Amino acid sequence: MCGIVGAVAEREVRDILLEGLKRLEYRGYDSAGLALITTDATTSDTRINTVKTVGKVNKLVTATTKAKASGRIGIAHTRWATHGKPSVANAHPHRSGDDIALVHNGIIENYESLRTLLKKQGYRFDTDTDTEAIAHLIHHYREGNKHSLLSAVKKAIKLLEGAYGLCVIDNNEPDKLVVARSGSPLVIGVGIGENFVASDPLALGQVTDRFIYLEEGDIAQVERESVNIWHKGKKVKREITTVAHQNNDSDKGRYEHFMLKEIYEQPKVIKDTLDGRISKTSVLEQAFGIEAPGLFDKVTSVQIVACGTSSHAGLVAKYWIESIAKVPCQVDIASDYRYRDIIVLPGTLFITISQSGETADTLAALRYAKKLGYVATLAICNVATSSLVRESDINMLTMAGQEIGVASTKAFTTQLTILLVLAIVLGRRTGLKPAAETKLVKELHKLPSIIEKALGLKKQIKTISKQFSDKHHSLFLGRGIQYPVAKEGALKLKEISYIHAEAYPAGELKHGPLALVDNKMPVVAVAPNNDLLGKLKANLSEVSARGGKLYVFADESINFASEKRLKVINVPSCSEVLAPIVFTVPLQLLSYYVAITKGTDVDHPRNLAKSVTVE
Ligand code: AGP
Repeated sequence: MCGIVGAVAEREVRDILLEGLKRLEYRGYDSAGLALITTDATTSDTRINTVKTVGKVNKLVTATTKAKASGRIGIAHTRWATHGKPSVANAHPHRSGDDIALVHNGIIENYESLRTLLKKQGYRFDTDTDTEAIAHLIHHYREGNKHSLLSAVKKAIKLLEGAYGLCVIDNNEPDKLVVARSGSPLVIGVGIGENFVASDPLALGQVTDRFIYLEEGDIAQVERESVNIWHKGKKVKREITTVAHQNNDSDKGRYEHFMLKEIYEQPKVIKDTLDGRISKTSVLEQAFGIEAPGLFDKVTSVQIVACGTSSHAGLVAKYWIESIAKVPCQVDIASDYRYRDIIVLPGTLFITISQSGETADTLAALRYAKKLGYVATLAICNVATSSLVRESDINMLTMAGQEIGVASTKAFTTQLTILLVLAIVLGRRTGLKPAAETKLVKELHKLPSIIEKALGLKKQIKTISKQFSDKHHSLFLGRGIQYPVAKEGALKLKEISYIHAEAYPAGELKHGPLALVDNKMPVVAVAPNNDLLGKLKANLSEVSARGGKLYVFADESINFASEKRLKVINVPSCSEVLAPIVFTVPLQLLSYYVAITKGTDVDHPRNLAKSVTVE
């Protein structure tokens, strides 16, 4: 998704901007650009120098060097196309005349009417973007040099409908960055005699660890020695937060891809997620904050909202919350949740799940939910400083570390880990006996080592992955709590290998999808050792009878035997409660190796972005 970096300093800022963009690369983008205010050494005249390229940031680095662009103030952007194709013209920064340049994250919904309005004022549009209208609007409100950049931005944003994070420079005020936030995150990086702006603090890790998180509706003027912020017309003070570990884990180490590295990190990050949250025998619920126990006491039902992989974690959690805590749980896709009539039962806890904590749909659902009378809002998130965490009453952080691969892996299994802990916490209040809690906690302690064993399936999975490379379609089957695991397996395969993969509850097969099965259709099934095993086996026979090729990931204790057209991959034995987490791992490896066989760009699959900050 789009990324913003801005800098104003005594020193040259070009490389700071480019490094910032590189650090945001993992979010996915299709073009990049920067604008620097360059001072002529002889005349001291200033002018805005813009360089834009399609493709990776390295191309922009080359083009910027070639253009000899330099300056002590500048803005930069990586774009993920929403309005108009990826092209040099559509890439940011966008200009209005010679003086205004601007970068924008988000979507302006009324850009067409703004264009019409501005065209009547004589403005010419050279791009297909919504952003160009903002640049002209600011230019319009400058009225020559009658009003300052700050007041022009203040006036312009009043007309914007939609979401924006903006950073603007003006050649007439060559020492200021003006920024505005509404629906798209922005932070100010505070330096000594220099200041910075970014859509994610990660972009500025090389220059500062001190950040001001702008709030919704904030406008700020950032100069070398000062940062001034206004909210609803009044000047406000915002706290400076020190953020450690501004490292983007950008080293793949011995792994060929971030995705593989992140798959292999799972035993460690699951352990990190459990550390300090469980003792040998029980959950330490104080670890979730002072207010958490009091809020959990009030919970009689749960509403989960999330997108993509995170929503699959929610679907698994529903089974745990209902079986362990005996509390009814509903799961919604964030993009649909706020567009339906919601009936909130008294005592309902509203939970969002998100790796990034910046997913626009999930954030919008949270903001909507806050008006509906839930007992509290809880964010399960991987980024402590994210908007989702900051806007929720309480949070339970996953400790996955930065996830760079677009296909989510370790974020998912750490989300599941923390959700299982949550089910225990809620269960305590609804009759879960201490002995039962201890049993579950002991299972959690075993999890990292079982995952480690599951990673040992790599070689076998690599071999069978070759049989998928010429396939265009596949089916994933699971029953009960394993159905969301099958959905996650199918999503992974789709995302990175571009093979159509559909997940079905195995019992639904005969109600339609069985018609798809022939000898060309690979069918992947997850078979843990549970009460539904007999029924699952019957479903698998339905596939075999139609000539389908089955790949069954089965708990090794079942002793499921391979046959002609039925390949069994034995998964390390685990308890029923851990099975959704354990069985996820071989499915991640399967999608990874199929993608490798097909030669796709595993870490940056086509058309996708890591963090989806637009609706
Ligand atoms: C998963 O592999 C995805 N790329 C995607 O579905 C992701 O899980 C979704 O966009 C939600 O992101 P979040 O967890 O950061 O909110």
